[in-house]
Amino acid sequence: MTIAIIGGTGLSSLAGLDIMEQRNVDTPFGKPSCVLSIGELQGQSVVFLPRHGNGHTVPPHKVNYRANIWALHAMGVDKIIAVAAVGGIRDDMSPSVLAVPDQIIDYTYGREQSFFSDDFTADKHIDFSYPYDETLRQAILQAGKDTSVNMVDGGCYGATQGPRLETAAEIKRMAQDGCAMVGMTGMPEAYLARELNIAYATCALMVNWAAGLTSGTITMAQIEHTLAEGMEQVKQVLAELIQTQ
Ligand code: HPA
Repeated sequence: MTIAIIGGTGLSSLAGLDIMEQRNVDTPFGKPSCVLSIGELQGQSVVFLPRHGNGHTVPPHKVNYRANIWALHAMGVDKIIAVAAVGGIRDDMSPSVLAVPDQIIDYTYGREQSFFSDDFTADKHIDFSYPYDETLRQAILQAGKDTSVNMVDGGCYGATQGPRLETAAEIKRMAQDGCAMVGMTGMPEAYLARELNIAYATCALMVNWAAGLTSGTITMAQIEHTLAEGMEQVKQVLAELIQTQ
């Protein structure tokens, strides 16, 4: 049993991870975002993959999600903690808040959604009613409690196409749809993990109020400030979580 951490914006490396090996993995779906790091965190073996590649050069709509998930599966990974920087929509999702979403609405388009696209059979319509693994979700929440890091339990993650941020009208619609937060990478990543029977859950850090919810423009400077502090908390939670897996 091996656990993987997929790092998002602001988490391109993991402090405390003793890297034993870096592996270039090729898959039938092409190459993952970058080399996979295999190492130990708190004495537990972990695979780490930064979703946007080294140096954040792969934008959300160009991430090869199939290659990333396939490569992790090929290495024996059966649990994935996805870390995501997101925009807050619901009132309680202000910048710096951490949340463990429990639902997804997918607004992306044109992304490869399945490993079975080219050899599809009826049994490949796979249940996705509850997109996140509940046991893993609870484990993240418990790690938050054990490290005294506040985390919101639940919320719907709206996945948008990017790389642009949303319009105010799009966010208004997403709020009406019931989205609590908005990010660009949650799908098809979560579904592809489900197709390969990998337990998957997300730790989401709010880095800004979504479009139109505050006056003024959303700046990367603002986001980066929140990211730097928030990711320190995420790392604490991950270090605790890993010990329980
Ligand atoms: N929208 C989409 N993705 C994001 C945002 C946002 O406001 N902030 C961080 N990732």
